[in-house]
Amino acid sequence: MLTTRAPAKINLTLHVLGRREDGYHALESLVAFSGAGDTLSFTPDDDALSLDISGPTSSAAGAGADNLVLRAARRLAEEIKGLRLGRFRLDKRLPVAAGIGGGSSDAAAALRLLAKANHLAPDDPRIREVARAIGSDVPVCLDPRARMMRGAGETLGEPIRLPLLPAVLINPGAPVATGPVFAALGLRPGALREGAAHADIAARPGADELLAALAKGRNDLEDAACLQAPVIVDALAMLRGARGCRLARMSGSGATCFALFSTRREAVRAASVIRAQHPGWWVKTAVLR
Ligand code: C5P
Repeated sequence: MLTTRAPAKINLTLHVLGRREDGYHALESLVAFSGAGDTLSFTPDDDALSLDISGPTSSAAGAGADNLVLRAARRLAEEIKGLRLGRFRLDKRLPVAAGIGGGSSDAAAALRLLAKANHLAPDDPRIREVARAIGSDVPVCLDPRARMMRGAGETLGEPIRLPLLPAVLINPGAPVATGPVFAALGLRPGALREGAAHADIAARPGADELLAALAKGRNDLEDAACLQAPVIVDALAMLRGARGCRLARMSGSGATCFALFSTRREAVRAASVIRAQHPGWWVKTAVLR
């Protein structure tokens, strides 16, 4: 049996540069990954492709044929004749439709496991192609390390070594569908804006350098997501009000928000205060990488 983690993806910045002729929005986003995540296991089996799912968010995710693990596996099998499939087991812990790429990270994890079981190189172009076809966030999740992501997720920068910045992730429990949030921007296909200065993040930024760069950035989907799920406004206010919070922002199309702190003690304290006030929210301390 092979096992891998499917970590949560956090968009530290997310700039929308415009809408392309194919309908997708051109993005510029600094993406990082958290220790919090799902766990996917795989047992090769010549006779079957199956998915067994357990864990706190398993019922929201579902193990049906449209689960991204199965879609990615079927698509790769179409691409590579004779691909050895098998039985997947997913321990689902990340909130669903939450702006942290849970399903995308699961799909990328499935592709990594299939590559390993079939002795394919992790950067096999057929794997990249399937990742792109499954969803915009799947390619960046194939090798989950902080980096710039551009286009509709197909153009990836070199890995960035982030400084140790304790983080808190919170999800107030309102699922947000990505498509409608992008649609609410009301952009027509046409000319794209230039990328922003924040794109020039060093390969190994120091904490102050990174925070200064992030402060110049933003998440262009925040307003549209807050209209769809107003509880995001409360989530951001809670994080911004926490002692030691240096930056708080929404990830992806929401509703998960993150905050960065100077010390782990401040992050742990903020998490416990938020948990006490909102026992139903998903609250995690994390180190981003
Ligand atoms: O690629 P994915 O299936 O995750 O995207 C979900 C929806 O979000 C797309 O159908 C599209 O409407 C929107 N989207 C977009 N531009 C992106 C990513 C997603 O318009 N860069």
